[in-house]
Amino acid sequence: MNAVKERSKARTKKSASKAVHTNGAGPPLTIALPRGRILEEALVLFERAGLDLSAADKSRAGRKLIIPIEDLGMRVLIVRDTDVPAYVEHGAADIGIAGRDVLEEQDRDLYEPLDLGIGRCRMVVAEPEGKPVDESAQVHLRYATKFPEITRRHLQARGTVAEIIKLYGSIEIAPLVGLADRIVDLVSSGETLRQHHLREVETIFPVSARLCVGRVAAKLRGDRIDDVIARLRRVI
Ligand code: PRP
Repeated sequence: MNAVKERSKARTKKSASKAVHTNGAGPPLTIALPRGRILEEALVLFERAGLDLSAADKSRAGRKLIIPIEDLGMRVLIVRDTDVPAYVEHGAADIGIAGRDVLEEQDRDLYEPLDLGIGRCRMVVAEPEGKPVDESAQVHLRYATKFPEITRRHLQARGTVAEIIKLYGSIEIAPLVGLADRIVDLVSSGETLRQHHLREVETIFPVSARLCVGRVAAKLRGDRIDDVIARLRRVI
């Protein structure tokens, strides 16, 4: 019986500490998370921050894309990584996690209070090892990329005139089959570049995932969002 009492005491204590971050009443704090590798890393980070969102883990959630986390007064939306900023900007989610690549490409009206240091990789320019571009000699340069805005800004900053060809994946093959001279893409281990005999010309910026917050949510739900930020900041 004592053990049961102890367990129930522990439960009371636990829910009391959780009540701190639910901050009483109100609708659940909604967070948009991108499916894939960032999701796994984000769930570990939140757990360390005392916010157990593991019910949103694929193995537990199955195909559910809206996962209520009732004891924390939260709700997780599982969305495509490129859709996170739209959910947050339009207030359908209060906060979200998105890579710097996605945020810079879309350049939406969002706060980005925290770099979470997860999902690290880099945005690079690359070209075929055996066919380097001579920028001063080649008149019509073509860059293939999933990130036309980032590419446009990069080329503009360098004063390079080039055509940008927007693709949706498998970017590395574009220069091998005559679609482009160079690519702008994410590199993590470098293995995809190596396998396609491409070499990095330059890094445009390092990439990691960031917490993003909508303007309306920041105004209306500032206390709860500040609590999440403070907790995450302690464990990054
Ligand atoms: C990303 C990126 C590169 C690859 C880099 O592609 O666009 O292709 O990962 O990783 P690596 O340096 O570790 O080899 P993703 O897997 O998202 O597929 P996609 O090209 O079809 O978008």
